[in-house]
Amino acid sequence: MIVVTDPIELKKIVLEWKLSNQSIGFCPTMGTLHAGHMDLVKTSKSQVSKTIVSIFINPTQFNDPKDFEAYPKNTETDLKLCEENGVDLVFLPSVEVMYPKSTTPIQMSIPSLQSTLCGRTRPGHFEGVLQVVSKLFHLTDPNIAFFGLKDYQQFRVVSALVTELNFPIQIVGVPTKREADGLAMSSRNVRLSPKDRETASLIPRMFQLAKKTLHGGEKNILIWKEILTDFLLTGSNVKIDYLEIVDPITLQPLSQLSGELLLATAVFVGDVRLIDNEILVSP
Ligand code: PAJ
Repeated sequence: MIVVTDPIELKKIVLEWKLSNQSIGFCPTMGTLHAGHMDLVKTSKSQVSKTIVSIFINPTQFNDPKDFEAYPKNTETDLKLCEENGVDLVFLPSVEVMYPKSTTPIQMSIPSLQSTLCGRTRPGHFEGVLQVVSKLFHLTDPNIAFFGLKDYQQFRVVSALVTELNFPIQIVGVPTKREADGLAMSSRNVRLSPKDRETASLIPRMFQLAKKTLHGGEKNILIWKEILTDFLLTGSNVKIDYLEIVDPITLQPLSQLSGELLLATAVFVGDVRLIDNEILVSP
């Protein structure tokens, strides 16, 4: 496995691969890797000949500096996991390399997809994601890039980015990998105390309740939302950032329960912010 910190060296290797007709898969990450990230790698390896993983905690996508400071870092174990899973190249840039001092900063946004969910409660977050993903796409020049559906809004925003700006890259969404109790795997889970980790299992149980009540005939979106909110709030130390029911394509709020819908939530358990979502079909 090759580990590269220098973008020029990265571009050289990518060019060599391209010249020898190798297809490239790219999985961008912020490290503290887990089995969910490795599902992206496995999917990539099944579809292309070379897989690149980037590990970069991108400061521009954190709207809360405390969250950035607290973001876990485990480079040594990350590299081991990548090696074990057959990653071909890890790109490990520094902040200085990714963001040399600029006198002409650029700002990107996709307003219609950012007005709800994390875009609403984390102003500036998707501007940062769009910026770093665009830069990483240019540096790694992949044929296919893999994104987890756990961050469904990110998947939609990046899919729109490549369409709107003609990036010649296919975006593939990978299903959410979960712990035994259903909690979505996340690098942030390591920050949960044992008690808060138990409380966090309310999130997957809320999705079970959502399915049960939906299929049990609940038709009123406001009542449904109230049932699910009340359930989450049975946990101590829980604060709901949002619980929204939106159209899976436009991400705009739905006013009634019919057809396909995205139920998405962000919940603080203690000071750890956890997100999850599922696409459900109202019968
Ligand atoms: P990070 O949170 O490290 O996630 C990297 C990728 O792994 C994302 O595509 C995310 O959706 C996916 N992922 C995380 N947990 C997952 C799980 N339980 N199951 C399946 N996939 C999962 O998302 C980011 O980093 C950053 O915003 C990034 C795209 C790297 C830009 O900085």
